[in-house]
Amino acid sequence: MAKKTVRDVDLRNKRVLVRVDFNVPLKDGKITDDTRITAALPTLTYVLDQKGAKLILMSHLGRPKKPDTENSLAPVAVRLSELLGRKVTLAPDCVGPAAEAVVNAMKPGDVVLLENVRFHPEEEKNDPGFARQLASLGDVYVNDAFGTAHRAHASTEGVAKILPGVAGFLMEKEIKFLGGVFENPARPFVAIIGGAKVSTKIAVLESLLPRVTTMIIGGGMSFTFNKTLGHSIGKSMVEADFLDTAKIFLEKAKKAGVEILLPVDHLVADAFVETAKAELVDSVDVPEGKMALDIGPKTVSLFRERILKAKTVLWNGPMGVFEFPAFAKGTQDIARAVADCKGTTVVGGGDSVAAVNQFGLASKITHVSTGGGASLELLEGKQLPGVVALQDR
Ligand code: 3PG
Repeated sequence: MAKKTVRDVDLRNKRVLVRVDFNVPLKDGKITDDTRITAALPTLTYVLDQKGAKLILMSHLGRPKKPDTENSLAPVAVRLSELLGRKVTLAPDCVGPAAEAVVNAMKPGDVVLLENVRFHPEEEKNDPGFARQLASLGDVYVNDAFGTAHRAHASTEGVAKILPGVAGFLMEKEIKFLGGVFENPARPFVAIIGGAKVSTKIAVLESLLPRVTTMIIGGGMSFTFNKTLGHSIGKSMVEADFLDTAKIFLEKAKKAGVEILLPVDHLVADAFVETAKAELVDSVDVPEGKMALDIGPKTVSLFRERILKAKTVLWNGPMGVFEFPAFAKGTQDIARAVADCKGTTVVGGGDSVAAVNQFGLASKITHVSTGGGASLELLEGKQLPGVVALQDR
């Protein structure tokens, strides 16, 4: 990668200030998914292996505007301590005398987790004074918070202007795989883009179009495309003001020689409710009064066949309403196809990542991103401020 990483700097006897994304889901104060914590461990253990290094961690959790117990990083400190097998001290604040006292008392090999950086509104404002206070707690700055790299906040961007920053291993891996689809992906390259709306995915479709061999479009957004092709879509999801956008996109794809695959059969319901009965419609056209909530078996076979032949697969967005058990099969079958593909497979974006985890297939995917918004922005071809701010190699 074009940015320096932890391997490029001497961390021995240093206070190493690491921005991580420990914004994990919590239910009744318990962490329900610790993927983001485990994903940061390679960087954290590497730092701790450097003689005399002290590890100071900072993260946000949720979107608080002031201190509140609900968004405290306390449960994260407990889980991290279990995973690292050593004590993790939670500092009561991330800046000021309370934080300084805890950091000043550290011994080599100690780990301190600073309390939620978003307890201070200056964090999201990228306030230079606040960034200076954070930076004063370290000698070296490492950013391993890929999930927050699309935010230009004090702890992700501001600190790097004061303390020269390098990437951690997770950041490096995310950029390698997600950014890598733009640089010479092995072909055939199949992108599977799903989700509800064309409006939120059109930038990803456009940025991937010049790179892919086949673009598979599923989920609610596929009906805007099928409608523009003259098919009936019943009561299925449609964005009327994006019909022209969809049409122009299909024309561009044709000119570029990119194959576009859309659903050819569906599972439909009478209404958008979890208990709705799934009915198979063996046609691309959805009958009047019905709404399609999942792809059908013919579509699965068509998509699967292309996915298995691919040398690179990128998947972002579910194929149907997989939160409803009766309409989860299409997304599950596509997750299985991606897992069965022998090529490089990358899954990015909150819902498709949730799907591979729910179906227990994450370990069969080359790279499952820890980023939601950050993955999407990277796939849109945007520069991420948290990455830009790091030192070039
Ligand atoms: C995420 O969960 O996508 C990141 O942690 C960023 O969180 P945010 O959307 O609240 O900035």
